[in-house]
Amino acid sequence: MSFVWTEFLATGNEKMDAQRRKLIEEMNYFFTAITEEKAEKEVERMFTFLDGFVTGMFFVEESMLRSGNYPEFARHKAQHDFFRKSYANMRNEYELRGVTDTLISDLHKKIFVWLLNHITKEDMQWVSFIKNKESK
Ligand SMILES: [Fe+2]
Repeated sequence: MSFVWTEFLATGNEKMDAQRRKLIEEMNYFFTAITEEKAEKEVERMFTFLDGFVTGMFFVEESMLRSGNYPEFARHKAQHDFFRKSYANMRNEYELRGVTDTLISDLHKKIFVWLLNHITKEDMQWVSFIKNKESK
C-alpha cells in the first residue's frame, strides 16, 4: 500500500504542503517497514517525525483557521486535541513498554490512518472555505 501526494491535497500554504508531502513520504516508509517486518527499528524515527508534525502542523493550521474566522474552528480544533491526546498516550506507552506489536498496530491505525483521513477529508473542508474566501 502506497500513497501519492496529489495537488488535490494542497492547502495553498507552502509550509503546510511541504509538511503534508513529508507526512505521506513517512507513512509510505513506515508501511513498507511493516510489510518487511522492520517496523520495530523505525518506531523511534516515526516518533521523532510525528513530534514535530503534531506540534508544528497543527499549530500553524489552528492559527490560520482562527485568523481566517473558520466557522467550524472549534469542532476542528477538538479533532486535533483528540489526536494530540491519543498521540501522547501512545508516546507514553512507548516510553513505558518500548516497541510492542500493539504499539506498531496503533501507530499504523490510530496515527497514520487517522492523519490520512483527517488531511483528505476534514482539512479539505477548511481548505475550500479559505480558498472561497480568498477568491471573493
Ligand atoms: Fe486539521
